[in-house]
Amino acid sequence: MGIARYRVRPPGTAELPTEREVLAEAERIRAAEEVASFGRRERKKALEVHRFAEQIAFALRGAPRSRPLTVLDGACGKSVLSFVARTLLLPRLGLRARIVGVDESAERITTCRRIARNLGLDEMEFHAGRLADVPLPPRIDVAWALHACGDATDQFLARAVRAHVRYVLCVPCCHPKIGRGFDALGLPASGRLRARVGDALLDSARFLRLEAAGYRVDAVDFAGGEVTPRNLMLRAEKTASGRSPADAAARLARLVELFPELGR
Ligand SMILES: C[S@@+](CC[C@H](N)C(=O)[O-])C[C@H]1O[C@@H](n2cnc3c(N)ncnc32)[C@H](O)[C@@H]1O
Repeated sequence: MGIARYRVRPPGTAELPTEREVLAEAERIRAAEEVASFGRRERKKALEVHRFAEQIAFALRGAPRSRPLTVLDGACGKSVLSFVARTLLLPRLGLRARIVGVDESAERITTCRRIARNLGLDEMEFHAGRLADVPLPPRIDVAWALHACGDATDQFLARAVRAHVRYVLCVPCCHPKIGRGFDALGLPASGRLRARVGDALLDSARFLRLEAAGYRVDAVDFAGGEVTPRNLMLRAEKTASGRSPADAAARLARLVELFPELGR
């Protein structure tokens, strides 16, 4: 079985996959999709995955090595991130994992299963369904989501919080629009500026929701604007050493008073 093939390394001694290695692995994964082309879009995805992988390595430095972790990949798409994590990153970190990918597109899930079969990765599983209500394993240690569209990010975060997932790494994608509240604050009637402020407000509400649920949260630029304009990652760990959940809940309530759409 795949899990038995892992080499175990002590934490902190791993050499992280280089950009070149991730690109080569992404090409191998693309070939396992049974598609010959590896173009600009695939290259961009590989670079995002490389940068995301660095954040996984940082976030999981204290994760247990004595048992396999269960990882949720929310809105996994073709799961390039999870395949690279499984074949390249996690073995170098000395981590074993069962990875569960979820996407509402049945077609993408079929593709993921084909790739896993072609790569001989029998400990990865993929389920078609919405993050809001798809059945999930009873215990999840790590949840990651790269560019889950619109409110899929919110569904993902809500599921992770409800499941008490210890490590959460989330890069939001396109945002649902905020319409109300800007006039009261005196913001200019510029769609572009309001969209930017709206993005920041929505991610702030997500940040505070995690803090209010007992997570220590960081908002980091994970990739650099030249790789993706959707560059913000919320990296969170459920721990007793986070900021006050009550204070976060109070801040969130103030934000929702000003921008009621953030209360959805
Ligand atoms: C921009 S793609 C990102 C895919 C992948 N994470 C990646 O980085 O390549 C967004 C994915 O979210 C999925 N999606 C959107 N809403 C969803 C939901 N509510 N539940 C599950 N998947 C969803 C779409 O089917 C699509 O595959």
